[in-house]
Amino acid sequence: MIRKKMEEALNGQLNAELYSAYLYLSMAAYFESADLPGFANWMRVQTQEEQFHATKFYDYIIERGGRVILRSIDAPPADWDSPFVAFKATLEHEQKVTGLINDLMYLAREEKDNASEIFLQWFVNEQVEEEDNVSTVLGQLKPIKGSPEDLFMMDKEMGQRVFTPPAAAEGDA
Ligand SMILES: [Fe+2]
Ligand SMILES: [Fe+2]
Repeated sequence: MIRKKMEEALNGQLNAELYSAYLYLSMAAYFESADLPGFANWMRVQTQEEQFHATKFYDYIIERGGRVILRSIDAPPADWDSPFVAFKATLEHEQKVTGLINDLMYLAREEKDNASEIFLQWFVNEQVEEEDNVSTVLGQLKPIKGSPEDLFMMDKEMGQRVFTPPAAAEGDA
């Protein structure tokens, strides 16, 4: 049975993952409005990833005999000044999430909750990948500096991203 303090913190992270999904869906809508359907697709896939993360927390809390309590999700911003600014905000957000995952890990250790520590390990690795993915996009956006032709080419590439749920072996901690 999971302890109350850990249960509450995991419920908090479930909310943070749902907010992430909400934020990226808002960015997808922003890119649609900017006539960049490829970038919008990239953000829709990112939304699916975050929903997958949220579901992982949901399932884990229940598996441990805890209670899932849903909280209200903050409204995300609706507009960004440019694709570069949106991706910079994405990187900052992912860095914040990494901090939240680290805090959860420290709590699991403090509470001597081995199962949660192992569960959270998957997210520690996932955050390395998340930050790396976003940094790669930012690196590609930097030299474009608003050139419509280059942005158009990059949009085509961003349209190729598909959501692939991680394999069960990798996903099951
Ligand atoms: Fe996430
Ligand atoms: Fe994320």
